[in-house]
Amino acid sequence: MSVHSNVKKVTTHTLHEMKLAGQKISMLTAYDFSMARIVDEAGIDVILVGDSASNVMAGHETTLPITLDQMIYHASSVVRAVKRSLVVVDMPFGSYQGNSKEALSSAIKIMKESGGHAVKMEGGQEIIESIGRILTAGIPVMGHLGLTPQSIYKFGTYVVRAKEDEEAQRLIEDAKALEAVGCFAIVLEKIPAQLAAQVAKMVSIPIIGIGAGNGVDGQVLVVHDMLGINNEFNPRFLRKYNNLHEQMMQSFQAYITDVRSGDFPNESEQY
Ligand code: KIV
Repeated sequence: MSVHSNVKKVTTHTLHEMKLAGQKISMLTAYDFSMARIVDEAGIDVILVGDSASNVMAGHETTLPITLDQMIYHASSVVRAVKRSLVVVDMPFGSYQGNSKEALSSAIKIMKESGGHAVKMEGGQEIIESIGRILTAGIPVMGHLGLTPQSIYKFGTYVVRAKEDEEAQRLIEDAKALEAVGCFAIVLEKIPAQLAAQVAKMVSIPIIGIGAGNGVDGQVLVVHDMLGINNEFNPRFLRKYNNLHEQMMQSFQAYITDVRSGDFPNESEQY
């Protein structure tokens, strides 16, 4: 319980208890104050300040260009809005792959300057030393396996990962390694549902899926995608809960019409 409010905040411990109780965990991205306020008020358990901000906020083709300072800007805007949700901040490409010392100083900068509650890192055994060092500093780490968009130039495409036995086996070993080092949860992105369910059963920490089926402990989506803001992104795993692209388009066009016709503002809308 916070000393500043009587809202019961979601912690990494809460997520662990939810897994034990068989309660599914809801997670959505947010990158700005206004969106985060609504997402938090709606009762989402975890808000991810994803490096997908690089795509949906900045218009880049990949997540690679976003910087540590830009992630901190987005994360601090989100943190100012949030009363209940756990805020997890993506460590951007280039901020942790060099060595564990660099990884620790990037994680500390995120925690100090954004006020976020945890960080997320893409990768398995190859980044275990860095994760361990960050955890030693008391910073909770969420892992991310399967399709890891920061490695898109290695993969070549955004197709489903770990369909072949060898990659599936490596993913299982990576998930076990992330659990053993002390990650509090793992995101599994775009892998076969059966494999994701197997991993969720195998480890004691929560597994949050995106395009990983229903046999996991929770789900995450990019908020702009689930609201239907981008009408050109329609992967199989995405359920659209709205069609904001159309609704926003209609609102903007109605406004343009009203301004042009002189209908807006009317007498009750002026001083
Ligand atoms: O950056 C992001 O939004 C993510 C989610 C897709 C899990 O990593």
